[in-house]
Amino acid sequence: MCKEYFGVAPRELDARLAPVEIAACGAFIFGRFTPTGGGETLEQFLGALFPILKAMSATSHRARTFTKVVKANWKLCYHITLDDYHQVAVHPKTLGRHGYLPRDNIFYHREGEHSAFFANRDPNELAAMAASCGNGTTKSTDFRIFHVFPNLLVSHHLCDRQFWYICISIYSPTAIDRTAIRSWLFPSPFPVDRHWLRDRTAWWTEMFRPTLVEWAMRWIMKQDNSVCETLQTMPPLPGAQPFIGAVETRIKWFEESYLARMAEP
Ligand SMILES: [Fe+2]
Repeated sequence: MCKEYFGVAPRELDARLAPVEIAACGAFIFGRFTPTGGGETLEQFLGALFPILKAMSATSHRARTFTKVVKANWKLCYHITLDDYHQVAVHPKTLGRHGYLPRDNIFYHREGEHSAFFANRDPNELAAMAASCGNGTTKSTDFRIFHVFPNLLVSHHLCDRQFWYICISIYSPTAIDRTAIRSWLFPSPFPVDRHWLRDRTAWWTEMFRPTLVEWAMRWIMKQDNSVCETLQTMPPLPGAQPFIGAVETRIKWFEESYLARMAEP
């Protein structure tokens, strides 16, 4: 049928499509254009994040999904998730209600081209989590965000009294000033130390918790997106180099990785 339709055999099209390799990490499927010389494996690329993402995606729950198209460049949308100053101004009733983030209570981890935010001061916690995810002993204990270069965001956050959720978002540029953010939301698959009464009533609270969690996530993301859409309309300052503050470290790391990738032949 193909020959009749195009009038030539497929091999005569001389199509030069770039081959795409895929590899899996738990429920995640990653794709890349085949690099010269083979390149690193997905496990090497993700490093300590490989066992973590694999364990975080090992859920039997059906994820709630939602997509939002933002009228802003994808890097604006992604940058705001790497910045920890904006919560007070942009999310004053939720994430920023307690004021600016105390730098002493958090730790930023850098893993290759990726980064992570842990609400835990221990510099070894990323390696410890990777090990515990590998042997199946991880528990949900604190707020964590993983930025997988270049455009994947995975957060592990508390919803209410020891009920933890995971939100996965992909920031896909659809135009220079448009970004499609696709999100998946589901309960954390990790065990948790919870009061027995909350476990006994979970069958009932889980009937409405996912809806409330999705509503809250959409609300917070809408606030971020609104800021990005405003920034998109503003002209850039020529030659201006941004100052990177103490809780914007991950933006600097991301930009370093981005510039290095863009400089590749
Ligand atoms: Fe935000």
